[in-house]
Amino acid sequence: MYCLYFVFVVLALPYISKPCIAKAEQPHIVLIFVDDLGWNDVEWHNPDIKMPVLSKLAADGVIFNQSYTHPTCTPSRAAMMTGMYPFRTGNQHQMIFNLHPSGVPLEFKLLPEKLKEVGYFTHMVGKWHLGFCKEEYLPTSRGFDSHYGLWTLGVGHYDKMNGVLSPSEGYDFRDNIGVVPKSDEYLTLMLAERAEHIINGHYNKHPLFLQFTMDIPAKHLEIPDTFEALYCDIEDERTRKFYGKLSLMDHVIGRVVDALKAREMWDDTVLMFIGDNGALASQAGSNYPFRGIAGTLFEGATRVPSLIHGSMLRETGYVNNELWNLVDLHRTILALAGAESGSMCELDGMNMWDTFSKGKKSPREEHVYNIDDDPISPGAAIRIGDYKLITGHPDLLYPYRDISLTDGWYNYGDPPASGLPSTDQEANAPPPLNVEYLFNVVVDPSEKNNIADQHPDIVQNLRDRLDEHRKLLIPPVNQTTELAGDAANYCGVWSPGWC
Ligand SMILES: *[C@@H]1O[C@H](CO)[C@@H](O)[C@H](O)[C@H]1NC(C)=O
Ligand SMILES: *[C@@H]1O[C@H](CO)[C@@H](O)[C@H](O)[C@H]1NC(C)=O
Repeated sequence: MYCLYFVFVVLALPYISKPCIAKAEQPHIVLIFVDDLGWNDVEWHNPDIKMPVLSKLAADGVIFNQSYTHPTCTPSRAAMMTGMYPFRTGNQHQMIFNLHPSGVPLEFKLLPEKLKEVGYFTHMVGKWHLGFCKEEYLPTSRGFDSHYGLWTLGVGHYDKMNGVLSPSEGYDFRDNIGVVPKSDEYLTLMLAERAEHIINGHYNKHPLFLQFTMDIPAKHLEIPDTFEALYCDIEDERTRKFYGKLSLMDHVIGRVVDALKAREMWDDTVLMFIGDNGALASQAGSNYPFRGIAGTLFEGATRVPSLIHGSMLRETGYVNNELWNLVDLHRTILALAGAESGSMCELDGMNMWDTFSKGKKSPREEHVYNIDDDPISPGAAIRIGDYKLITGHPDLLYPYRDISLTDGWYNYGDPPASGLPSTDQEANAPPPLNVEYLFNVVVDPSEKNNIADQHPDIVQNLRDRLDEHRKLLIPPVNQTTELAGDAANYCGVWSPGWC
């Protein structure tokens, strides 16, 4: 009896010990979405990385162990913004490159539009990457009161230039639709300044939605010396610079938190932090111990670190092992904001608030990594319960990369694996693979043992379920190369007006 009582008190402690803060009707919501963050690229998985701010947020909040994204940036962003799997909005194929005359189709209402309807002030700082060929696709046309940052997939951190898969390099740094004057300041630090400015100028009786889609740690290994110097004892230059970027990311998040505290908004804020997909080993990120790099259907591309912090959480300071997918963030944010409405059944996203705030069992039992029925390299993957099936080509960036370079288990300092798409690889690309991989990702999270031959029934069941999802698939948006969009036609700046 006594013992039972003791158990009860211990179990109840996290609840009793918390002062009962009245839940603000509509909390401020800060969503920090970072670019190409590997599983092993956060301090709570790799203690060599210095992230004092995030580690403190993690300790006072909840760390997630099974938060999933989609394999590349555009599909992940589209899922978060629409609450639907990317194959249902036409955003499943690779990503929107500079010269693609498309975006997220305009019939889909995006998250900030829905939040505005219930009174949120909505601001976005950082990378968009959901189409810019016409003004209707831009963040400020789709629900954000303001946007400061880039429209393309990424730029040099100092020069803000991007020339990926296009004849010319172009400048990409916007303040709403105006062009930010060139400077040689480090982009992420400029973004931090704008985030602080937004918070400082926000009338704090209104709920704020701030989406900070950071342009790092992805892309170039450029980093101010002070951050690289934090790791001067590391010999490998790529790792030193990459860790420096991770610490810079942490520093910037600290500035956002400090600004919210200074305005007395912090206690009413829910902060969420998540990567958009796994790391590219070419940039020294690490998804270890998971397999594959960004762009593949393996866990390394899709199982990413994340956390949540906020006084509304009823149970904190632990690792939550419940399964959820980025599409759920959309629905969960709507629930938190009081913006759920009648059309929710259209969405693939589920409301995870009870899982996030109280550790309740996730309502999600399956999730789709992607279905990309591209004629050259079809690839799809789904998980139901403990089992995951990959069919077709496991690297969705084929034919731009060689699968044998992208499906390994990469850790820091390993030789660079092919990263961003390159046109010259087409000549020596291998023929598409047509794999059938079945993994038990609970006992084999590193995807080392393909057990498809032992379990034809499970394979068939997962295939059938993929086919059911396929019925809702719409063909990808137009991804032909439209040279009229070249930056050279717009004074060297990536610009709308050509689709
Ligand atoms: C997190 O996931 C790993 C690998 O799937 C598992 O071994 C570990 O026990 C999980 N951690 C928690 C706290 O559930
Ligand atoms: C895709 O865009 C190109 C260039 O703008 C255009 O010529 C083509 O007709 C479009 N294709 C489809 C299927 O809409």
